[in-house]
Amino acid sequence: MSETVLGILASGRGSNMQAIVQNIHSGQLHAKIGVVISDHATAKVLENASAAGIPTICIERQNFATKQEFEAAIAAKLIFYKVDLVVLAGFMRILGGHFIRSFAGRIMNIHPSLLPSFPGLHAHEQAIAYGAKVSGCTIHFVDEGVDTGPIIMQEAVKVLPDDTADTLANRIIKVEHALYSEAIGLYCAGQLTALGRNVKISKE
Ligand code: GRF
Repeated sequence: MSETVLGILASGRGSNMQAIVQNIHSGQLHAKIGVVISDHATAKVLENASAAGIPTICIERQNFATKQEFEAAIAAKLIFYKVDLVVLAGFMRILGGHFIRSFAGRIMNIHPSLLPSFPGLHAHEQAIAYGAKVSGCTIHFVDEGVDTGPIIMQEAVKVLPDDTADTLANRIIKVEHALYSEAIGLYCAGQLTALGRNVKISKE
């Protein structure tokens, strides 16, 4: 069976991208990263992906008249690199309906809270400000809402009494790094089926 090709979209440091690379190298995750695309020329993720020998592309919103044209440029590259699964890893833009429909059921996102709690920006700050005792991370398929798509996997992380957004983020990101590869692996093995909101994980 041919390997599933991942297209990673990321805006920043790309520690999730790095974890995926490492899990592929160690043989834990059977997939291939076809391309890493960032909307920021100086994003660390581009440097790290390049160093790992992965094709990288920078596509900046400012170079396009409309959001649709910007997203069409991203889609064209994903198609060029024969991407099967689009992996959002800290991609700080909300993708439009046309893009999402073009890759229906083939876009995953990771969010640093237990959705539907604390969607959108500043999830760690939100959890602390709310006084939550537990937060965590969620991997979900992307639909046209913000962090609303069908949930694939979640893992809880305790919020400690003295936590700041940073200390909480540092504990959650460790869980993210393991869980994202696990979810991607299930997708690659054909073990995920979305029935409406309910994602079924079948056994090997
Ligand atoms: C992660 O916390 C992820 O959950 C969120 O953005 C952050 C990206 O971090 N969507 P990194 O760039 O992968 O280090």
